[in-house]
Amino acid sequence: MDALGAVQSVLVLGGTSELGLATVRGLLAERPVSVILAVRDPERSRTEADALRAAGAKDVDVVQFDATAPEHDGFIDSVFDRHGDIDLVLVAFGVLGDQQVSESDSAAALAVVQTNFTGVVSVMVPLVRRLRAQGHGTVVVFSSVAGERPRAANFIYGASKAGVDALAQGYNDALAGTGVTVLTVRPGFVHTKMTTGLKPAPFSTTPEAVAERVLHGIRTGAHTVWAPAPLRGVMTVLRHLPRPVFRRLPG
Ligand SMILES: NC(=O)c1ccc[n+]([C@@H]2O[C@H](COP(=O)([O-])OP(=O)(O)OC[C@H]3O[C@@H](n4cnc5c(N)ncnc54)[C@H](OP(=O)(O)O)[C@@H]3O)[C@@H](O)[C@H]2O)c1
Repeated sequence: MDALGAVQSVLVLGGTSELGLATVRGLLAERPVSVILAVRDPERSRTEADALRAAGAKDVDVVQFDATAPEHDGFIDSVFDRHGDIDLVLVAFGVLGDQQVSESDSAAALAVVQTNFTGVVSVMVPLVRRLRAQGHGTVVVFSSVAGERPRAANFIYGASKAGVDALAQGYNDALAGTGVTVLTVRPGFVHTKMTTGLKPAPFSTTPEAVAERVLHGIRTGAHTVWAPAPLRGVMTVLRHLPRPVFRRLPG
């Protein structure tokens, strides 16, 4: 952080995520920052790194990262040891999976959970340890409205996001007063490569619009943001619908 508390460095876990990259571009529109992209295949990520340099990043480092690795303590330590303080971390990796396949193939179901939930737990523990030691930092965790009340059409993904959401909310409360905050982001349907070919849900939005909500949440010190904002009210209603009604909702 600089003297005014502005973000100087950002680590993106899932560095090819369209939501993560849109958030970094939003930051770069305000000021130059140093960017670390943590990706599965660094060779394939040159284009993203070049685009961020062209958008004004101070420097861009690309590091190898797989959320399904057995542990991430060494990875997190190596990133912090090499880069020093990191002000903002975007936990942006995730897979949607295929609900129908997951219901008959435990390996497919576990792949969703191990990436979206176990992977987040595995990075959050060493990450928060380092952020607490440096005394400041914001972690943005991409949850989903799918975790607020899982639907029959994608409850394996929804269950993984419910777990992530609880983890992020719990961490934020546990970290009160430490200088470290955790922002839970609950997007609805966003047009990214994750949703390519799917029928857009109501209130569908763009990565840029989600990024605006994320940056507003960081600036205002929010604990949770919905994207788009009206989903907060929509989900409050949906969460309380009687089960027989909820079950019959289309899609
Ligand atoms: N798009 C939506 O409608 C939506 C809605 C609600 C929540 N979200 C959540 O928002 C986050 C970002 O989604 P997005 O829309 O930006 O999707 P995206 O563009 O498809 O990005 C997903 C990212 O996750 C990475 N990833 C997948 N498995 C990984 C693993 N094992 N290790 C490391 N990285 C891995 C992918 O890397 P590769 O390039 O290597 O595949 C990719 O960078 C996700 O958590 C998603 O669940 C998305």
